[in-house]
Amino acid sequence: MPKISTKGIQMPESPIRKLVPFAENAEKKGKNVYYLNIGQPDIKTPQVALDAIKGITLETLAYSRSEGSESYRTKIAEYYGRNNISVNHDDIIVTTGGSEALLFAFGSIMDKDDEIIIPEPFYANYNGFSTSSGIKVVPVISKIEDNFALPAIEEFEKLITSKTKAILICNPGNPTGYLYSKEEIQKLAEIVKKHDLFLIADEVYREFVYDGISHFSILEEPTLSEHAIVIDSVSKRYSMCGARIGYLVSKNREVISTALKFAQARLSPPTLAQIASEAALDTPQTYFEEVIDEYVSRRNLLIEELQKIPDVKVAKPNGAFYCIAELPVKNSDDFARWLLEEFDFENNTVMVAPAAGFYSTEGVGKNQIRIAYVLKEESLRTAVKVLAEALKVYKD
Ligand SMILES: Cc1ncc(COP(=O)(O)O)c(C=O)c1O
Repeated sequence: MPKISTKGIQMPESPIRKLVPFAENAEKKGKNVYYLNIGQPDIKTPQVALDAIKGITLETLAYSRSEGSESYRTKIAEYYGRNNISVNHDDIIVTTGGSEALLFAFGSIMDKDDEIIIPEPFYANYNGFSTSSGIKVVPVISKIEDNFALPAIEEFEKLITSKTKAILICNPGNPTGYLYSKEEIQKLAEIVKKHDLFLIADEVYREFVYDGISHFSILEEPTLSEHAIVIDSVSKRYSMCGARIGYLVSKNREVISTALKFAQARLSPPTLAQIASEAALDTPQTYFEEVIDEYVSRRNLLIEELQKIPDVKVAKPNGAFYCIAELPVKNSDDFARWLLEEFDFENNTVMVAPAAGFYSTEGVGKNQIRIAYVLKEESLRTAVKVLAEALKVYKD
């Protein structure tokens, strides 16, 4: 039989999707499963975006320009302008989701075996994108005890080698919900300038920040213009995960012209979804105010209820819609499976994401789970109750 590639064998499985068959089985058995594991918001897509593609009268659904339509990129630049970020449409490449923007960024700045330093826990697919790009993730651990703040700069410096090309942060973070401060970004700016590295910031959750704290983008730091690459997306911002639109933004001309070659090779980002995404930029501010109020209420409820469970430790997130909880279990992979296969409380169970997949350091995070607060408050309350009841009876 012909052989598949070593890279293919090394591609990590999604730490979340592997539990799906167990959830499906639980549902077949008649259990009610609360999904705390996914990043698909239950929030409605803005009406302006849906309306834009409703009565469309195109005769041909053609390719768009590889870098995305000029009118869309111009409107994105205006959006950034309203958010203290000065870029123009030439600094933006529209991609098929933030996922493709990450692949283009990796492809544009790193060669095989190059290294990228990422504070962990991190978005699990960074492992997959790194494997498919042939590069090595070098993790620097951030701790639940510190609320997942940026590790000390010395910790980064210890890890820098001649192969290091970039530092990647996710701000605010998936899975931690941690929001980096301006001071933390400035510390990173110093280190990337000192060692001549790129700083990639995945800012797909930039609108979701709470408690009156503002988001500080790496693009707001003027000294970073040649170093900064931002990854962005409409998926979560407008609850448009299925549109598959994201973008890569950089003031570095070489990065943009290189990423454009990757963009040309795959021809075009989705044309129809660009029309919806362009219209989404006219979403009234009240939409975000309502969504943010909703997430804040959910977060408060979730954290309060989790803190009531004996021996559960939780970091308080200031952004995104995830949190990491440490549980009194040895292996959260086994626990997550057991919840679906063997447990129910009043016919309810929960699906959680075991956190080990969000670390690349072997053995770390085994007693942690990631919870996405993408359920309505009432469901969230029931889900945490189920978790609390489960922990009373679970035996490792
Ligand atoms: C941190 C982070 N980055 C990037 C992505 C990719 O999103 P998309 O490709 O849908 O834009 C996600 C999706 O969950 C994410 O959580």
